[in-house]
Amino acid sequence: MAYNRTKPKARQKIRRPRLIVVSNRSPYHLESLDGEIRMIRNVSGMVTGLEPVLASTQGMWVAWGNAPAECDICRIPPDNPTFDLKLIPLDQEEIRHFYLGFSNSTLWPLAHNFLGRTIFQEADWEGYFKVNRKFAEAVAVEARPSDLIWVNDYHLALVPQMLRNLRVTSRIGFFWHIPFPPLDLFRTLPWRRDFLKGLLGSDLVGFHCNSYVKNLLHAVENLLARDVSFSKGLVRNKHSVRVSAFPMGIDYYRIQKLTQEEQTINAAKRIRSEIGSKRIILGVDRLDYSKGIPERLEAIEKLLEENPRFIGKLSFVQISVPSRIQLPEYRRMQHEVENAVGRINGKFSKAAWTPIRYYFRSFPFEELVTYYLAADVCLVTPLRDGMNLIAKEYAATQSPDKGMLVLSEFAGAAEEMKEAVIVNPHSIPSIKNGLLEAINMSKVERMIRMEAMRNRLKRRTVGKWGEAFLERLRGDLPNKKTVGTKRRR
Ligand code: UDP
Ligand code: G6P
Repeated sequence: MAYNRTKPKARQKIRRPRLIVVSNRSPYHLESLDGEIRMIRNVSGMVTGLEPVLASTQGMWVAWGNAPAECDICRIPPDNPTFDLKLIPLDQEEIRHFYLGFSNSTLWPLAHNFLGRTIFQEADWEGYFKVNRKFAEAVAVEARPSDLIWVNDYHLALVPQMLRNLRVTSRIGFFWHIPFPPLDLFRTLPWRRDFLKGLLGSDLVGFHCNSYVKNLLHAVENLLARDVSFSKGLVRNKHSVRVSAFPMGIDYYRIQKLTQEEQTINAAKRIRSEIGSKRIILGVDRLDYSKGIPERLEAIEKLLEENPRFIGKLSFVQISVPSRIQLPEYRRMQHEVENAVGRINGKFSKAAWTPIRYYFRSFPFEELVTYYLAADVCLVTPLRDGMNLIAKEYAATQSPDKGMLVLSEFAGAAEEMKEAVIVNPHSIPSIKNGLLEAINMSKVERMIRMEAMRNRLKRRTVGKWGEAFLERLRGDLPNKKTVGTKRRR
């Protein structure tokens, strides 16, 4: 990926800065079996977005994990090794307080507007602080002044300022992949000021949506009023921080290529004939309470109750990827979803037809694409979501005369995908009516709406997303919408 905008001749003389990506979740889970290293891809939007960026720029990814004895730093991805993976092991106490505790029982529910599920515990904050320092120290050992450091997500918000305290002078970008909560929610966090100060050690903070940018700035203005100035952008202790929206895209052309392969087309046909229904509706999510899966199932149930003509003719395929299953909230959600699937299938199934096909596992991306291709409608109804790549991937796979997307107004993707059927995922009638609208939509209208979404996806690919963030981090891009000025150097 060419993120260096200098002319070709001049570029030869300049060393391209090395990129160090830092995240809690590693792109691959490494296992050693009989002297061979097996690499299993982790499923999430963050990994989907960052991997192609680092694969094209090269460099290093630092993340949580246990390195097999065979290699301290491994080369990945397995099929075409282009970058190094440095893993940081965490012990059980660290996992409990940092990962399960502060990251996923405090920050995750708070950022997704679930104050009732948010737990505030001093020991979790201490664990979070300690593990953030561990990450910062591991990165500081690797970092050279000319490197670009790209820290990702809510697990590691303190790392930027900690790197500064460790005298790291490289440019630091931070990308927050989930929603940033409104001030009224964020200020419930007892450690809110230290949290913000940690984040503001970055030169650039990126979000998927403008509304999250506004929420962060509102929080800084209110909670750090004495420490910051806004007269020349956001400045804290003479250090300028740019805050801007960079909506993540998808690898549109790779997906398009996949959809045209004979193997994919045949697999999609097989799925359709095995399911046997005229209409196939698809849902794909990590099994997370933020994704609105029980509400979606209830909407399907209502649809079948009120429209018996769909019995035997419409099937809903729900792919639920196991996630954070060590947490009781997630186990409860798993049981709730499984009970709902059992209830609906028990109520409506006929000899050779089941209304809901439920999978509790992840699929390799190539196989997921066959499901996208087989589906007439994709139902993406999170109660809150930073972006949601499923919506974008589904739209990208559809041929001009096929497919429709039903999308929650509370997914970041809705800011860009206005042509989808937009629904309120908290309202069962809204989801159900949205689904009916998508099913009954005329072919012409469907074509116009899907084409508009696809054209945008073509222009705003994940490669361009990474390029724009890195260019802004290096200071190459004009700074129209960004808040903040150039960093002191
Ligand atoms: N995904 C996958 N296999 C699956 C389910 C999902 O590879 O069985 C990928 C999917 O292609 C997408 C990502 O996981 O790129 C999920 O991203 P999204 O932003 O929708 O949700 P997140 O998990 O980050 O909340
Ligand atoms: C979301 C977050 C990622 C996280 C992923 C999976 O996409 O933005 O940072 O990695 O969920 O969650 P997990 O807890 O398995 O890392």
